[in-house]
Amino acid sequence: MAISPALLLLIVSCSFAVNVSGYNFSLAEATVAELQQALKQNTLTSRQLVEYYLSQILEINPRIRGIIEVNPDVLTLADKADMERLSGPTNASSGLHGIPILLKDNIATMDKLNTTAGSFALLGSVVPRDAGVVTKLRAAGAIIMGKAALSELAHYRSFTAPSGWSGRGGQALNPYVMSEDPCGSGTGSATSVASNMVAVTLGTETDGSIICPSSVNSVVGIKPTLGLTSRAGVVPISLRQDTVGPICHTVLDAAYVLDAIVGYDPNDNATIAASKFIPPGGYIQFLNANELQGKRLGIVRDQFFVFPNGSYKAQAFENHFQTLSKNGAILVDNLALANINMIYSNESETIALLTASPIRTLAGGISFNLNYSTLVAVVANMQNLIENGIVKLMTQNNLDALITPDATVTVVLAIGGFQGISVPAGYEPRLIEIAYAFEQATKIRKPPTFLVSSNLFSLRFSLICILELII
Ligand SMILES: *[C@@H]1O[C@H](CO)[C@@H](O)[C@H](O)[C@H]1NC(C)=O
Ligand SMILES: *[C@@H]1O[C@H](CO)[C@@H](O)[C@H](O)[C@H]1NC(C)=O
Ligand SMILES: *[C@@H]1O[C@H](CO)[C@@H](O)[C@H](O)[C@H]1NC(C)=O
Ligand SMILES: *[C@@H]1O[C@H](CO)[C@@H](O)[C@H](O)[C@H]1NC(C)=O
Ligand SMILES: *[C@@H]1O[C@H](CO)[C@@H](O)[C@H](O)[C@H]1NC(C)=O
Ligand SMILES: *[C@@H]1O[C@H](CO)[C@@H](O)[C@H](O)[C@H]1NC(C)=O
Ligand SMILES: *[C@@H]1O[C@H](CO)[C@@H](O)[C@H](O)[C@H]1NC(C)=O
Repeated sequence: MAISPALLLLIVSCSFAVNVSGYNFSLAEATVAELQQALKQNTLTSRQLVEYYLSQILEINPRIRGIIEVNPDVLTLADKADMERLSGPTNASSGLHGIPILLKDNIATMDKLNTTAGSFALLGSVVPRDAGVVTKLRAAGAIIMGKAALSELAHYRSFTAPSGWSGRGGQALNPYVMSEDPCGSGTGSATSVASNMVAVTLGTETDGSIICPSSVNSVVGIKPTLGLTSRAGVVPISLRQDTVGPICHTVLDAAYVLDAIVGYDPNDNATIAASKFIPPGGYIQFLNANELQGKRLGIVRDQFFVFPNGSYKAQAFENHFQTLSKNGAILVDNLALANINMIYSNESETIALLTASPIRTLAGGISFNLNYSTLVAVVANMQNLIENGIVKLMTQNNLDALITPDATVTVVLAIGGFQGISVPAGYEPRLIEIAYAFEQATKIRKPPTFLVSSNLFSLRFSLICILELII
C-alpha cells in the first residue's frame, strides 16, 4: 500500500442566502456546454462572448480586483476562433474551442501578457515558452483572456500577507461579501469566474490554493492528482506538491477544462506516470446524476464540522447529508481521524509550509535557513501521521471519498502529498461522479451580489470530497 503524493480534491459549491436581482445572468452564468451550443448554432460568436466579458470586467473588476491583466490580443483570438469555426469542423476533441479562459498569473504565457505571480520583481521577465497547460489550451482552441490576481508569489512571499494581496494586483476581494476573506492563493481565478467576468479559469495548488478560494467564493475547483497536469512554466513552489487545475462555475465546466489540460508534457516528467491514468474519452463521460448510488462517503464530524468552541459549523449540512443519502450514497458517519491535532498544531503547519517551500525559488529571494536533518526526520514523522490517519481511516472503512465543509483539510493533504511514494492518478472519475451527482441534486450556486459586509458568519459552504488514492 502506498499513498499518493497528491490526494485529489474536488469542491462542489453550495451557496446559501444570496439574493440576486436586477441582472440577466443568462449569458453570465452559461455553462461551457451551453456556450458551445450557441457558438455552433451561430446564435453567438466568440467575439460577442469576449466583448461581453470585457464589459463585465470593466464594470466589476475595479470593485473586486480579480484580474491583473487582460490580453491585448483577446479580440483577435476571438476572431480567429470564429473564423476557424466557420471554415469547418474544429478540433473535435475539445470542448473549449472559442471559450475564454483566465489564467492565474503564475502560469507562463509567451504573448503580450506578463507572467509575474503578482510580483513587481518579475515584471518584465521574459518566459521561454508557454506553460505546458497553456500549449494544450491553445491547441484546444481556448482563448487566453488574461491573468488573474493571486496572493503574491502564491502566498510564499510572506506567510502573514492577506490572502489575495499582491503588489501588482492590490487586494482582491470576495464578491459575495467583500469584507470577508477571499482566500488564496488562487483568489482572482475563483472570484473572477464567480462574478462572471470569464467563462472558466485555471488555478494552481501547493496547499489549498485551488480548494480554499473555490470554497469561499462558491465555485467548483479541482485539484488534480500530481502530474496529471503539467507544471512546466508555472512559477514553482514545490515540485512535490504543485498541481494546476480548473476553477469554474460547474463540475461539467471543470471537467471540460480538465480534459483540455491533462496529459504528457516533455517539460514535466511527472506527467509520464500520471498520463496513463487519463481515461480514454476524457472526464465528461463520468457526469451522471445517478452516480451517488452506492458511494461510501466518510464524515469526520468532530474535526471538520465543529468550531474550536465546540459549536457545529454547518447546521445546513444536515440537509446535504440527507440529499446525499436520498440519492443513494452510503454515509459512514462519526468517523475520527487519528493524529489530527498533531497535524494542525503550529509546529506541524509550519513544517508543512517549509517542506512546501522552494529553496530554488524566484530570484533566490527567500531563505528559510532549514536544518535539513531535522526537516527530514520531521517529514518522515508527518508521513507516518498521514498513513496512520487518513489512509487507515479510508481503507478500514472502504470509503470512496471523505467529505468536509470547507478547506480546513488541505493541510492534511499537503503534508500527505509530500513524499513521492507513488502516483496512482486516474481516480478523478470517481470524484467527478460524486461531485456532479451532488451538484445536480442541489443546484445551489448563486452568483454574487457584492455585499460590502454581512453579519452572517458565512453565506457559503462547500462540500469538499477527498478521494484518498491508495494502490
Ligand atoms: C436574458 O437574455 C436572454 C438572451 O439574450 C433572453 O433570451 C432573455 O429573455 C433575457 N431574460 C430576461 C429576464 O431579460
Ligand atoms: C506588462 O507589463 C508592462 C510593464 O509594466 C506593461 O507596460 C504592459 O502593459 C503589461 N502588459 C499587459 C498586457 O498588461
Ligand atoms: C486538437 O487537440 C488535440 C488535443 O488537445 C491536439 O493534440 C491537436 O494538436 C489539436 N489539433 C489541432 C489541429 O489543433
Ligand atoms: C525527463 O527525464 C529524462 C530521462 O531521465 C531526462 O533526460 C530529461 O532531462 C527529463 N526532463 C525534464 C524536463 O526533467
Ligand atoms: C463559536 O464560534 C463561531 C465562529 O467563530 C461563532 O459563530 C459561534 O457563535 C460560537 N459559538 C458559541 C456558542 O460561542
Ligand atoms: C499557535 O501558537 C500561538 C503562539 O504560541 C498560540 O497563541 C496559538 O494558540 C497556537 N495555535 C494553535 C492552533 O495551536
Ligand atoms: C540540526 O538538527 C539536529 C537534530 O536536531 C542537531 O543535532 C544539529 O545540531 C542541528 N544542526 C544545526 C546546524 O543546527
